[in-house]
Amino acid sequence: MTVRVRIEPAGAELDVEAGETVLEAAWRLGYTWPTKCFGQAECMVCFVTVVDGELQTEPPGPHEVFQMETRLPPRTRGPLVRLACRLKVTGPGVVLEKKGVRSASGLTGTRPRQP
Ligand code: FES
Repeated sequence: MTVRVRIEPAGAELDVEAGETVLEAAWRLGYTWPTKCFGQAECMVCFVTVVDGELQTEPPGPHEVFQMETRLPPRTRGPLVRLACRLKVTGPGVVLEKKGVRSASGLTGTRPRQP
């Protein structure tokens, strides 16, 4: 089962597969996503704000919580802030805010062509 997730302000729509994180889905679909650790939950650069559909996301695991509490700047923390490299979705209607997400073509709001 795939679940569509919208990323604002880019207007990108990602079809996230079961068991896949939002960051993994973005990479699979050809998007670039701000990161320095490339999905290791170390850099905190991938963080997102859940704008809508919070109940359709898996709760953060202990490692994600610990990393955000110890590494994320206090002004950035909040109950709706998550790491895209750990965030998994369980149902439709999830909208995330993340600046800097780009399609492979450099355009935002478009979905890369699938082979
Ligand atoms: S990619 Fe670095 S913390 Fe998520």
